Amino acid sequence: MKACSEKDFEAFFKNVVDFIDESSQSIFCKDEAIDEHALDMQQYLDGMLSPSSRRFEEVVVKRPQLNNEALESWIHKSSLLELDEFLKKALTLQSPFARLFFHYMISSNIRSMSSQVKSWGHIADNVKPKAFTYKHVRSYFKKWVVRFLGSLRKTEVRANNNLFDGMVLRVDVYDWSSSDDLLSYYDIPVSAIITSPPYGDAIDYLYSQKLSFYSLGYTEEEIKILVSREIGARRKRFNKDSRRVWAEELASAVERQAKFIETGFIAAILPHKNHGREIGLNLMREQLELSGWSAFFEVDRSISQKRTRQSWTSIKQETISIFYKG
Ligand SMILES: C[S@@+](CC[C@H](N)C(=O)[O-])C[C@H]1O[C@@H](n2cnc3c(N)ncnc32)[C@H](O)[C@@H]1O
Repeated sequence: MKACSEKDFEAFFKNVVDFIDESSQSIFCKDEAIDEHALDMQQYLDGMLSPSSRRFEEVVVKRPQLNNEALESWIHKSSLLELDEFLKKALTLQSPFARLFFHYMISSNIRSMSSQVKSWGHIADNVKPKAFTYKHVRSYFKKWVVRFLGSLRKTEVRANNNLFDGMVLRVDVYDWSSSDDLLSYYDIPVSAIITSPPYGDAIDYLYSQKLSFYSLGYTEEEIKILVSREIGARRKRFNKDSRRVWAEELASAVERQAKFIETGFIAAILPHKNHGREIGLNLMREQLELSGWSAFFEVDRSISQKRTRQSWTSIKQETISIFYKG
């Protein structure tokens, strides 16, 4: 397998910037430079990642087009047109890795490119913008690429580091509220689980990301189906039993997760007890103790409030609990 050097990464990103610049030109002009670099990166990453970019694209992208009808209520007409043309051009690329990269870029920017920038909660609660503001789509993308590359450069784990030799990073999508037997098709030993489960009554995780879902071609109905499986969402807070139901769902999820491990550790991040949700950690702990796990370590931490205007929730502290089975 061809190794991928930092130079290859830099070259790929240079091509990304050129691609963004040129995206205003004909959507039918093929950009071979970016494809060539993306195919190199893809070959490298596909050796390290499971599933492959191609398979990942099949799972994540519902339809290779924006749900323009839904996005019209959120994004200025001209910005939406620019975005639509950009995606059409990106989807002419041969490399699934490059196509995924551009989907990721669109998803990361779509909320700030919309005209509803008050908070994630406004998007989740379907509070549509009263007035539309034109946003120059390619400027958002260019700024984002610079920031993204900046944080990649800052990370300690570099592309040419052999730390990952022989290691495969694997992503599986699973609904933890379901009792389907995931173990039956899981074939590798697991020695640790780190879980960050949803916080009861706190965040509508999926609805707050609906603009991203629209960018991946999802319809309202398709998002609704995903949402119906969501554990502990904010909109459930009006039900008087919502916290107990959430805690019970967490406990059954961790029971399923614990079956992956014979001996090892489970670490869970949950809201701190000051936030009236201790029932979640308590039921999770009871469930784990019943299956032979014991509490090993616990620490509280504060959640940074630097960006309070955009804060997802009023929860300011979390507890990290580690369980052990020997
Ligand atoms: C506190 S967040 C953790 C986010 C995670 N650390 C990440 O970086 O993506 C909880 C996540 O659980 C997901 N979730 C909610 N119900 C679920 C279910 N039934 N099965 C799997 N995940 C679920 C939410 O959509 C949300 O992404």
